[in-house]
Amino acid sequence: MPDALSTDDNIMRTTPRIHYPGIWNVSTDLVDWKEVDGQPGNFMKVLALDDANHRVDFLFKQDPHQRFQRHTHLCTVATLTLDGEWGYQEGPERFFRGCFNYEIKGSAHTPYSTELGMYLFASFQGDGPVFLELLDDDDQVTGHVDIDFFRQYYDAEL
Ligand SMILES: [Fe+2]
Repeated sequence: MPDALSTDDNIMRTTPRIHYPGIWNVSTDLVDWKEVDGQPGNFMKVLALDDANHRVDFLFKQDPHQRFQRHTHLCTVATLTLDGEWGYQEGPERFFRGCFNYEIKGSAHTPYSTELGMYLFASFQGDGPVFLELLDDDDQVTGHVDIDFFRQYYDAEL
């Protein structure tokens, strides 16, 4: 049987994003990593940004021994780890390729990477445009991450 993915005329081999009404196709290796503003060593590739459903899907990467600021989720989150090893500073577990996380609205934590770094797929699904409250060491809110925050890393032409 011919392997459809090995043919040279497969447009996904050379085109990062192809959109049809209601469908986003992304060849993620062709999309550049963007460093996350204010979170050094954290990078993302926004795959789909869906304002109507308050949803963003993205790849997320942390260099070794980095962290993302502690935050509370105002959305539900699903992640699938693709590589590396990482955890939440608030708990003993560490996650590796194949681990899945589902975080409900209201959960708070500080993701950090081990010496292996972190690489995962994440989906934020909210009931409004604001996804995260960023917290300081005293759990005071210092800022928000909303759908427009992700938009600055979204290089798609819609
Ligand atoms: Fe989180």
